[in-house]
Amino acid sequence: MRKQVIAGNWKMNKTHTEAEDFAQTVKNDLPAAEQVESVICAPFPFLQKLVEVTKDTPLEIGAQNMHYEEKGAFTGEVSPVMLKELGVTYVVIGHSERREIFKETDEEVNKKVHAAFEHGLTPIVCVGETLEQREANKTMEHVEGQVKEALEGLNQQQASKVIIAYEPIWAIGTGRTASAEQANEVCTHIRKALQEKYNGDVAEAVRIQYGGSVKPANVDELLSQSDIDGALVGGASLEAASFLKLVEAGK
Ligand code: G3H
Repeated sequence: MRKQVIAGNWKMNKTHTEAEDFAQTVKNDLPAAEQVESVICAPFPFLQKLVEVTKDTPLEIGAQNMHYEEKGAFTGEVSPVMLKELGVTYVVIGHSERREIFKETDEEVNKKVHAAFEHGLTPIVCVGETLEQREANKTMEHVEGQVKEALEGLNQQQASKVIIAYEPIWAIGTGRTASAEQANEVCTHIRKALQEKYNGDVAEAVRIQYGGSVKPANVDELLSQSDIDGALVGGASLEAASFLKLVEAGK
């Protein structure tokens, strides 16, 4: 039985004070980590404070991106070593906004996934199709390709620990959610691809989240699907009460 993982992705939102207030508000009301994993992926400047405030609570802290090198002349970048040292435990890799706006490639995503494992961080690897690809019946081919390229070269033990976030790009921040069946269909396809690339054990172990306009009103139906093991939530993770409801739904 896979444990659900509910991750908030704050993107480029909140002030330092707001971030701390959020953590103080939710930290004692979250279900135990044995029941459901809860994660907040915050902007870099808030990570240290969030790790400090949530110490010994079920809430884990993640970053939204990182470089794959440990150090060097990469102005403006943050390394996995720096994240690990802060106490960060998860990192979002290859979010569609990074792929589209910052032109991240599958090859870079793959290097980042390897770097995450080398430094003991759990990668949340984002995949998903555009509306154009969906309408051209290219969803499965595209998503399967992204998954395979992102995981290329991982051993079975590493692959089974990856979290994959299936986020149809047309459903992100648009209020337009994929139906629970549409979302599950793609997640099932991803699991089959993992079985082909690795084996049944790996395919059964990997958690696959859905992301794209998830909110308290639709989370139950999404999480009740056979191959959906959590959610990666943008807008609805910004407010403490809403995030708590989403995590509760994952129990
Ligand atoms: O990482 C989160 C996704 O991009 C979903 O964002 O919940 O605001 O649609 P959203």
